[in-house]
Amino acid sequence: MDDAANWVRVAAVKQVSKGEMLATEAGGRKVAVFHLDDGSWHAIENVCTHAYALLTDGWLEGDAIECPLHAGRFDVRTGKGLCAPIEQDVATFPVRVEGPDVFVAVP
Ligand code: FES
Repeated sequence: MDDAANWVRVAAVKQVSKGEMLATEAGGRKVAVFHLDDGSWHAIENVCTHAYALLTDGWLEGDAIECPLHAGRFDVRTGKGLCAPIEQDVATFPVRVEGPDVFVAVP
């Protein structure tokens, strides 16, 4: 692991099946962890950049998360906002899987 980053264990691999997500916190940030259908893992800030909503209260479709409040969507791989009313991308965090555990690096 990269020692310069602050890696925090956020979940057990078995807690998050493929196609599912998990709301957690790391380093004082609200973090959404995603385990996509292709087996890849991703993490983004769990707070929508439009207004205040937790993205994990929304819907994961493929690699896009839809906000529960005004249906803004983000690419969970890149944090990129995909449609109105999103004007600002959401922060992403590196994810590592080590054995049975999932770690996220937070600044
Ligand atoms: S709060 Fe997420 S789209 Fe408005």
